[in-house]
Amino acid sequence: MSQQPYPIESIRAEFPALAITDDGRRRVYFDNPAGTQVPNRMLERTRSALVETNANLGGYFPTTLANEEIYVEGHRAMADFLNAASENEIIFGASMTTLTLHISRSIARTLEPGDEIVVTKMDHDANISPWLLIAEDTGAVIRWLDFELDTYQFADDAIDAVLNDRTKLVCLGAASNCTGTINDVKAMAAKAKAAGALVFVDAVQLAPHVGIDVQDMGCDLLACSPYKFFGPHQGVLWGREALLRDLFPYKVRPAGEAPPERFETGTPSFEAIAGTLGAIEHFEWIGRKFAPGNSAWEHMSARGQMLHSAMDYLSAYELDLTRQLIERLQAHGSVTVHGVTNPNMMHWRVPTVSITVDGKHPKDLAKALALENMFVWDGHNYAVEPVRKLGLLDKGGVLRIGIAHYNTGDEVESFIRALEPLL
Ligand SMILES: Cc1ncc(COP(=O)(O)O)c(C=O)c1O
Repeated sequence: MSQQPYPIESIRAEFPALAITDDGRRRVYFDNPAGTQVPNRMLERTRSALVETNANLGGYFPTTLANEEIYVEGHRAMADFLNAASENEIIFGASMTTLTLHISRSIARTLEPGDEIVVTKMDHDANISPWLLIAEDTGAVIRWLDFELDTYQFADDAIDAVLNDRTKLVCLGAASNCTGTINDVKAMAAKAKAAGALVFVDAVQLAPHVGIDVQDMGCDLLACSPYKFFGPHQGVLWGREALLRDLFPYKVRPAGEAPPERFETGTPSFEAIAGTLGAIEHFEWIGRKFAPGNSAWEHMSARGQMLHSAMDYLSAYELDLTRQLIERLQAHGSVTVHGVTNPNMMHWRVPTVSITVDGKHPKDLAKALALENMFVWDGHNYAVEPVRKLGLLDKGGVLRIGIAHYNTGDEVESFIRALEPLL
């Protein structure tokens, strides 16, 4: 089955936005790390939630009962997506940032002055600021884990230098929204756990590209954002059930005591939960229809196996496009790729490629590319620390090109053609 060509036309046909043109020009969506387009299954689930099952939870009439089923199924699907032990471990909320700020308040109650929190210089600020704020509130000490500029990775032993018996929390990024580096979170989490710390993982940029197994990763909490993996604007927080039961919930009194309700404050966006279910069903469709099975996922639920096989399949395609993009970019001496470029090391990166061009401001490049209907982002994209470390914070940051499984080799070539006159 793996021998058939990648079904790019069938996949693109699932995304209505990909067919939209502006004055006859097609759109090239390379803005994916800031949010992806959505497939028909996601749209249909959202429509149905707002038309057929639009009610709050807890009643006796048909819409509330049907909504309850979708709500539970949304949690189950997300649990399968992350290989969580149960749907009780899945918390839906407004965004990854909102959920992280929210849970940080609960974690703060476990800290004492002098306790230590590890944050990294590779992270998005959503996995830094919440922890700086609780350190300020509690008198905890921040330790910075730094990456190497020549490899865009953490040295194998870097984490050892920041762990000690006062370390209570280690906050890691699974994949960078700037350099695209995938970190060896499993190895780092094992060391952090051995030191007695809680491990929080920001998987926002990993989730669209690589199958996640929270149990194998060995972390305690992990956050991601469905709008980065073809779903609605929403955030998801996974936590080990025992931990979610232990942590103090900031909630209103009548709200349920059990997870996930104790951390899903207020009325959730049912249409977004349904939309996320639809996005996951899109991956399930790919897994069932196109992806070869992988025995590595046999310990997972049937849906979990489909989802993880789909991610393997899509990621191989995305990395081929990434190799192509990097090779074309590197043909130009004035372009610097700020991330892993070795073709044999592609499994250590997601298809998010940040570049700078000698003598050109990233904003000017982004504006010129926008005129060609090439959608890319510039600036620091909230990756303030990585961009500072790259020495680019006062230079307009980077130009970021982000590939998703619906992009094509032709789009990569047309992007290069649009960029070349600007170099
Ligand atoms: C790595 C990373 N973490 C966190 C976030 C924040 O996610 P949200 O917009 O859901 O708050 C982003 C958003 O770009 C991100 O790229």
